[in-house]
Amino acid sequence: MAELRVCATGDVPESSARRFDIEGHRLCVVHLPSSDSVGAWYVIGDECSHADYSLAEGDLWPEDCAIECPQHGSTFSLATGEPRSFPATRPVPTYSVQIDGDNVMVVLP
Ligand code: FES
Repeated sequence: MAELRVCATGDVPESSARRFDIEGHRLCVVHLPSSDSVGAWYVIGDECSHADYSLAEGDLWPEDCAIECPQHGSTFSLATGEPRSFPATRPVPTYSVQIDGDNVMVVLP
């Protein structure tokens, strides 16, 4: 396990998601609004578990803490990676994320 810098916090504006490729891992970094000044950050696998489409290009559902695949509309929990709707049936990976100053840090297996 290694903790690595994925990006700067300013690279992912609030209420958006962005793909980063780090050490062979394809990551979807999500920045949701929250009551504190830092916001709520999530990192999940960027590749939809149904087919090879980028989840970072999908719509966010902040009230459900979920992201919607842009291709066929499966939604995935940002907290657990579990799909909440078909056609996807398998989860995507989730990664531990920490904000260290202006850096988004993730723990990779
Ligand atoms: S590619 Fe994501 S739901 Fe089909």
